[in-house]
Amino acid sequence: MYRIAPSLLSADFARLGEEVRDVIAAGADWIHFDVMDNHYVPNLTIGPLVCEAIRPHTSAPIDVHLMVKPVDRIIPDFAKAGASVITFHPEASEHIDRSLGLIRDAGCQAGLVFNPATPLHHMDHVMDKLDVVLLMSVNPGFGGQKFIPETLVKLRAARARLDAYEARSGRRILLEIDGGVKTDNIAEIARAGADTFVAGSAVFGAGKATDAHRYDSIIGALRAELGTVAP
Ligand code: DX5
Ligand code: ZN
Repeated sequence: MYRIAPSLLSADFARLGEEVRDVIAAGADWIHFDVMDNHYVPNLTIGPLVCEAIRPHTSAPIDVHLMVKPVDRIIPDFAKAGASVITFHPEASEHIDRSLGLIRDAGCQAGLVFNPATPLHHMDHVMDKLDVVLLMSVNPGFGGQKFIPETLVKLRAARARLDAYEARSGRRILLEIDGGVKTDNIAEIARAGADTFVAGSAVFGAGKATDAHRYDSIIGALRAELGTVAP
């Protein structure tokens, strides 16, 4: 019912394949892959070549979060590189419906990402093309930031929209949260309606690098917190 998606942004970039295998072996469900272009966001990370390089290391879904502008021309490259889910920010696309269509035509699941101050109405006329809605609970660009509490209000509003859509269409759209997710707030975030949880610094910053079980411990702890949430 709940998915945990460690963000590679906080992983050891010199050992990415191993990091991917280790978090999946420890019980993670998705690999969250943050793509930053030093244009849409003030940071620069990884692209399709790195996605292609980690793809053989797991059969788990790779959840590509595009923080790039323009959006469209990079979509086919990520689809070829083995992306499973591709999400983008509506502000970064000239034609939101077209970008979602391109992702789906390339065989991937598609999603929109909402910055803390981006209103939810951007999803209104494209619900049929959405597989995922991702709410940012920090401003995009960096790992290790603090969860913005106001996001909980927005999560409840997004949950209501997605539930209403499911009631009329029979289709379930996932509701993902990204930024500042930790063991001490994940249960509250789940109660507000999220079902998919990105965690970067919480997972990859947990424990000592010499502790072979650190990912089992942190992912187990996140799941234990989720276990306290009434369905
Ligand atoms: C921020 C990224 C996040 C980031 C989350 O722009 O989209 O995925 O890695 O990191 P934490 O979990 O440390 O806030
Ligand atoms: Zn992200």
